[in-house]
Amino acid sequence: MNNKKIIAVVGATGAQGGGLVRAILRDAKGGFAARALTRDVNSEKAKELARLGAEVVAADVDDQESLKRAFEGAYGAFCVTFFWAHFSPEKELAQAAAMAQAAKHAGVQHVIWSTLEDTRQWVPLSDTRMPTLMGKYKVPHFDAKGEANRVFTELGLPVTLLLTSFYWENLIYFGMGPKKGPDGKLAITLPMGDKKLPGMAAEDIGRCAYGIFRKGREFIGETVGIAGEHLTGGQMAAALTKALGQEVRYQDVPPEVYRSFGFPGAEDLGNMFQFKRDFEAAFRGARNLAVARALNPALQTFEQWLAENKSRIPLE
Ligand SMILES: NC(=O)c1ccc[n+]([C@@H]2O[C@H](COP(=O)([O-])OP(=O)(O)OC[C@H]3O[C@@H](n4cnc5c(N)ncnc54)[C@H](OP(=O)(O)O)[C@@H]3O)[C@@H](O)[C@H]2O)c1
Repeated sequence: MNNKKIIAVVGATGAQGGGLVRAILRDAKGGFAARALTRDVNSEKAKELARLGAEVVAADVDDQESLKRAFEGAYGAFCVTFFWAHFSPEKELAQAAAMAQAAKHAGVQHVIWSTLEDTRQWVPLSDTRMPTLMGKYKVPHFDAKGEANRVFTELGLPVTLLLTSFYWENLIYFGMGPKKGPDGKLAITLPMGDKKLPGMAAEDIGRCAYGIFRKGREFIGETVGIAGEHLTGGQMAAALTKALGQEVRYQDVPPEVYRSFGFPGAEDLGNMFQFKRDFEAAFRGARNLAVARALNPALQTFEQWLAENKSRIPLE
């Protein structure tokens, strides 16, 4: 344990960080040790990580001093923010800055920042194709992460910017699963037209991050985009139909209709899908399947993910 390189993992009890902790622990001879950061070291999820062999430490991304303590002595740090816990891009920016400063203070040798595009580089606020949200964003939960890239780079940190993709788990937890229409038929609704959506199993994000740490300095200063597959709504519906044994259709709606659905974050997600649809070449081009598979040979396809997870998808 002592001569292993410690990776401090933010969000360790969650999807991205959890995947990384489990990937580190699974590879007992890999030379890395997992330090799991959590706000509650006594939660069931935290205790489970300890049982698996992680060092579990208390830290809160709103408390820079706690991050400094948690990053102390670590070789690497995996940094992620939690937009959907507070819906505040400003908070994400502040939390990213706190993590970057803590990593600098601790002299961490490799930081991975889990980020997304600042869509305003493609769709300036003056562009009326999609509404400006919260005063200065197009896709708030993307833009702040992209904007935060510079808080890592400007501090001169040895950072890899990790561009993640749509979790297929959104079909389970995020209300995006198949729903029955007035005709009683199941359909998934995405405002993607005939364009392809890069997606992946959330667990594979952490596994790819582990692959990046394992590569040493190779990806420092680089942006790495990952996905499990790029699929159209029609292809996702066909795979769901096959896996569930009942017909699931793809319902394409205009982004403005999606934005009007009224659930918390609907406007943000409507803009997000419109960005992915209208800038498909750039968005898909930034997410290379071969790179993801090289980092994580166990990378799942949608069909493989469905085989494992289909029973967890609520059919409303
Ligand atoms: N859904 C998607 O398709 C998708 C795709 C790409 C990127 N993303 C992004 O992924 C991010 C969320 O990552 P995730 O899915 O891995 O999160 P998650 O599964 O919701 O896990 C969040 C974990 O973070 C911890 N946490 C929450 N607030 C914290 C705080 N103030 N300080 C320290 N830890 C805190 C919690 O752990 P404790 O309670 O143990 O502290 C929780 O277990 C979001 O920003 C989202 O935009 C999502």
